[in-house]
Amino acid sequence: MSENRSATFGLDGLSRQFPVLEGTIGPDVVDMRALSQKTGVFSFDPGLGSTATCTSAISYIDGDKGVLLHRGYPIEDLALNASFTETAYLLLYGELPTAAQYQAFRTDMNTHRLLNEQIRNFFNGFRRDAHPMAILCGTVGALSAFYHDGLDISEPKARDLSARRLIAKVPTIAAWAYKYSIGEPFIYPDEEMSFSENFLHMLFARPGNHYRVNPVLARAMDRILLLHADHEQNASTTTVRLVGSTGANPYACIAAGIAALWGPAHGGANEAALGMLETIGTRDGIPAFLNEVKNRNSGVRLMGFGHRVYKNFDPRAKILQATCHEVIEELGLKRDPLLDLAMELERVATEDDYFVSRRLYPNVDFYSGLILKALGIPKSMFTVLFAVARTVGWVSQWKEMIEEPSVRISRPRQLYIGAAERNFVPMSERR
Ligand code: ACO
Repeated sequence: MSENRSATFGLDGLSRQFPVLEGTIGPDVVDMRALSQKTGVFSFDPGLGSTATCTSAISYIDGDKGVLLHRGYPIEDLALNASFTETAYLLLYGELPTAAQYQAFRTDMNTHRLLNEQIRNFFNGFRRDAHPMAILCGTVGALSAFYHDGLDISEPKARDLSARRLIAKVPTIAAWAYKYSIGEPFIYPDEEMSFSENFLHMLFARPGNHYRVNPVLARAMDRILLLHADHEQNASTTTVRLVGSTGANPYACIAAGIAALWGPAHGGANEAALGMLETIGTRDGIPAFLNEVKNRNSGVRLMGFGHRVYKNFDPRAKILQATCHEVIEELGLKRDPLLDLAMELERVATEDDYFVSRRLYPNVDFYSGLILKALGIPKSMFTVLFAVARTVGWVSQWKEMIEEPSVRISRPRQLYIGAAERNFVPMSERR
C-alpha cells in the first residue's frame, strides 16, 4: 500500500487534506479515518457501496473486465488446474503449496473431518423438517464448546488450528444436516478421499449400499466449491470481519457469516433460479415468461442472469457452463425436462436484444443450481453448499484481519433522525 497523493475535502469554507492510498491494482481509496476528528462530520454510506472497510491481499474483482483473482491467480487457471483443497491452502497462506506442503496439508485436514461424537446429539434436538442452514448455523456456533485449544486467538498456532478445523468439519455438519432431514443414518467422513469425493460420499452413501463416487461428478462438485471459495468483501465476509473485530472466537465468527449468507439476497440466488425454471414449466412457457421479465412493471427478473459487479461476464459462470454440460452428458440427463428448459432459456435469452443490450449474462448461480440439481442435491441444500465453500474465504479473511496490527473493533456511526432530547411525560399525562 503506498501513499503519494492527497484529496481535498471542503466544508464551510475550510479545506482539509486526506491521503490517497494506492493498492496493487484496482481503484485507489481516500483515507477518511481522520474525517470526524478534522472536520466534525462523518461520511454517510449505507450499504458501504463506496467504502473500503479494510486492506486485503486475498481476492480481487474487476467487474468490468470479468476478472476474479485469488492471491493474484485468475479463477479460470485455478478452476482448470487446481483442486479445492489446493485453493484453500492458497487462500489461507498466500502461496500455492509445493507437493510436500500439499500432502501435509491434505493429510492434516482430512484428520479434522471427524466431529466430536457428542456433536451427534445436537442433531436430535432439531425438528426433522428444520432448514439445513439452521442446523449448520447452530452447530458451527457450538463448535467452540468442543475445541477449546483453538480459542486463544492471540496464538498463531491456535488460529491456524481453528481455521483448518472449520474448513474440514463444516462439510461433515452440512452432510449430516441433510441426512437428518431425510431420516437417513449419518455417514462418517473417509480420510482417504479428496474433499469433494468425501463430501459426496457423506451426502449419498448409505450403510449396506456402497456408494461409488463418480469422478466426473466429484470434479463438478470440486469446481463449484472452488468457484465459491472467496469473493472479496461481500456481505457475509464483512460480517465475519465485523464479528471478528470484537475478538469473538472463530467458530462464532463463521456462524455469523453463515447467518448472513442465508439471506435470499446473498446465498439464495441459485435456489431462486431453479424455482423460476419450475415456474416456467416447459419450453413453451419461455416466450411468455421473457415478455413478463421485459415488462418493467411486472417486477419479474430472469433469475441467474445479471450481476452487480460483473458487467461483461461472470468468469465463474463460463467455467460452470462447461461443467454443467459435462455433468448432463455424464448422467444422460439431456432429456431431463428442467435441464432441457434451462438450456433453451439460456440460448434464447443470450440472443435476445433486451438482455444483450443491458449486458445481462448468465451468472454463476444459473449453472450451479442446475449442476446441483443434476447431482441430486435438493434446493434446501444449495446455500449450505455455498457455506461449505465460502468457509475457506471466511477463515482466510478472519485470519488476515486478526493478523493486521492496526485492527480495531468495527464501530460505525449514524445520521440520527429521531426526536431531539425531550422531557419524560408521566403515563397519567400522556394522550
Ligand atoms: N432480469 C431482467 N432484467 C434485469 C435483470 C434480470 N436478471 N438484471 C438486471 N436487469 C435490468 C434492469 O431491469 C435494468 O433495466 P433498465 O435499464 O431498463 O431499468 C438493467 O438491467 C440494469 O439493472 P440493475 O438493476 O442496475 O442491475 P444491478 O446491478 O442492480 O443488478 C442483480 C444486479 C441484482 C444481480 C440483477 O441482475 C438481478 O436481480 N439478477 C437476478 C438475481 C440473481 O441472479 N442474482 C445472483 C447474482 S450472482 C451472486 O450473487 C453470486
